Amino acid sequence: MNVLVINGSPKGKNSNTYKLTMAFVEGLKSKNEESLLIEELQVNQLEIKPCLGCFSCWKNTPGKCVIEDDMKIVLEKLLWADITLWSFPLFYFNVPGKLKMLIDRMLPMALPFMESDAESGGHPSRYDMSKKRYVLISTCGFYTAKGNYDSVISMFGHFLGKDNFETIFCGQGELFRVPELKDRTNEYLSFVKNAGAEYLEEKISDDTRKQLETLLFPREIFESMADASWGIDERTGKKMDETLVFIKQMAALYNKNSYQGQEKVLEMDFTDVDKKYQVLLKEDGSEVLTENFKEATIKIITPFTVWSDIASGKLNGGEALMKQMYRVEGDYDIIMRWNDYFGGN
Ligand SMILES: Cc1cc2nc3c(=O)[nH]c(=O)nc-3n(C[C@H](O)[C@H](O)[C@H](O)COP(=O)(O)O)c2cc1C
Repeated sequence: MNVLVINGSPKGKNSNTYKLTMAFVEGLKSKNEESLLIEELQVNQLEIKPCLGCFSCWKNTPGKCVIEDDMKIVLEKLLWADITLWSFPLFYFNVPGKLKMLIDRMLPMALPFMESDAESGGHPSRYDMSKKRYVLISTCGFYTAKGNYDSVISMFGHFLGKDNFETIFCGQGELFRVPELKDRTNEYLSFVKNAGAEYLEEKISDDTRKQLETLLFPREIFESMADASWGIDERTGKKMDETLVFIKQMAALYNKNSYQGQEKVLEMDFTDVDKKYQVLLKEDGSEVLTENFKEATIKIITPFTVWSDIASGKLNGGEALMKQMYRVEGDYDIIMRWNDYFGGN
């Protein structure tokens, strides 16, 4: 079975979406590795010129475009593939421009005649594509995919056939590149892998579909993290110190359900950069203080480098404490139940 991956992200293999696509491919392979042939097209590395709209591929050289570029390879691969995975980020509620150029250049694959039974008009395919299968895999930047893919579904529906493709659309896509959040993003990728395995056997199951449609993080937490991630102060519009950006993102992950009837004050003293912050853990959410500090419930006294390595998983927090790479003073409850406080759910 031939599988074609078309990666339409301008970031190439550094794409968020590509991580999902590779997890899906892993799932396909887990079921039938020997008989799978997998080919990839990185759209950002292909030379694809815009369609000239000349219709030569219909009237002068049927099935062949007048432009000489890499589109020749793309058309060959589309005919070769049994399963095509269209992988792309959502750009302005549709596919990125270069991928749209590639799609426009698929015109030689269609015949010029009008298809009378197509509801809003259409052209028959020049080739027998009836057994081909397609999956659209995409991430977007908003908290949810719901309601953001109408144009994508409509466009692909017209040229692949309505209901002739599966979709995996995931909001909060930028989180796939945040090492601190990899527990959750890796869990999501494992669901995508399951989807790949199920798809090869028949179809993505309802259980997996439900997991794929569950938000990576609740909207409120995601949006606070996303706002903090740009490193820009909302009031002044100026760039923030990286340690403050870090603290704001950490505070955004605070789980209100861990509140136990009393506000707690978590103080972070970053000794290597001489910066101090407090995070108030309140009933209705968290707040970061940069001045007018309160009496701390717990103080974590640490180099910033050590704490960020712990957060990104490069260092084990417990082991680093034993090795006295950082110190804790006050109520140990927060440090003992860190995931309850900052697990983000
Ligand atoms: C030019 C541009 C347009 C975008 N338009 C949207 C959009 O309409 N809706 C959305 O939710 N995210 C939008 N995003 C965010 C991307 O879809 C998101 O960052 C995605 O995870 C990037 O995936 P990639 O790393 O695979 O390229 C846009 C990003 C850029 C750069």
